[in-house]
Amino acid sequence: MITLEDLTKVFPAPGGGDPVVALDGIDLEVGAGQIHGIVGRSGAGKSTLIRCLTGLEKPTRGSVKIDGTDIAALDGPELRAARREIGMVFQHANLLDSRTAARNIGHPLEIAGIGREKRAARVSELVDLVGLGGREHNHPAQLSGGQIQRVGIARGLAAEPKVLLCDEPTSALDPATTRQILALIRDLRDRLGITVLMITHEMSVVREICDSVTLLEDGRVVQSGALADVASDPHGPLSSELIPLPPAPTGISARVVDCDYGADPENPRAVATSEELVRIAEGYGARAQIVAGTIETIAGRQVGRVQLALRNEDDTPITEKGLAEYLRDLESRGVVAKEAAS
Ligand SMILES: Nc1ncnc2c1ncn2[C@@H]1O[C@H](COP(=O)(O)OP(=O)(O)O)[C@@H](O)[C@H]1O
Ligand SMILES: [Mg+2]
Repeated sequence: MITLEDLTKVFPAPGGGDPVVALDGIDLEVGAGQIHGIVGRSGAGKSTLIRCLTGLEKPTRGSVKIDGTDIAALDGPELRAARREIGMVFQHANLLDSRTAARNIGHPLEIAGIGREKRAARVSELVDLVGLGGREHNHPAQLSGGQIQRVGIARGLAAEPKVLLCDEPTSALDPATTRQILALIRDLRDRLGITVLMITHEMSVVREICDSVTLLEDGRVVQSGALADVASDPHGPLSSELIPLPPAPTGISARVVDCDYGADPENPRAVATSEELVRIAEGYGARAQIVAGTIETIAGRQVGRVQLALRNEDDTPITEKGLAEYLRDLESRGVVAKEAAS
């Protein structure tokens, strides 16, 4: 549904210095009905990417296809028509204070010249769709943050777009409201089959609703793939972002090792559970105890970052050799394992 090929955007330098390469040859494919997350630090190129997708910014090179149409090659009325296929949701809905929720939702339809009756019918559909029934005649000042964002989402969906671009839609919301809004977005995808691109800096958002995710750094794709794949790949940069590091254990008299592991369908020897880490240690005459850890199951696959305290069977500290052999074995099973800094 969304296909980016060699998408590149270079801004001329302010004041004649080096030009700024905001996007540097991005290739990306997002299938219809997918929720795809774009993550990256400030300055990575996320906003520029969104602006290229909406046609607000012309790429220096490359194509931006939405449902087969190259947005980058369009101008004027053609571009305006293509843009109707794209809905936008922002961090702040920026509603018009003087208008009710319903009239805010209907605003884009009014601009598009849709007649009064048709507009009213569509707005009432949208009010139900986003769960705002009973609130449609309220003004923004009478709505909660979550309700305001529901209005923003309904407004983004007013023209029945095929793609919904969400730019930090929950960054201004409390955790409980965030969950409700994410559940709504997922539900809308399920019911409407809409494709969602979710720009966010919150890894919890990615964990909760994204099917796939791309990490941008300095305008380049550093890692991209299905959520279960990137989360369970301990060698990629996203797994450590997605799975928080457990707090380090204190007051332990044993050698402690950090292990990042995850099931890998392509490697039958890959460590897929924390129990396996313990069992493998027994083969080296060692007793491994999980002393800290974050274990999650993402898309049915266990992913973990755990710390193990290692001792010999007789409770003496594990030898250098035993530890080295154990770590080597784990490495061969796809685990990123190293002795914790003490
Ligand atoms: N209009 C512009 N002119 C010059 N440089 C820009 C412009 N817009 C963005 N940039 C630069 O491009 C890079 C990417 O910016 P941006 O897309 O806003 O990143 P993000 O949204 O991930 O924080 C940054 O180095 C930023 O300074
Ligand atoms: Mg930005």
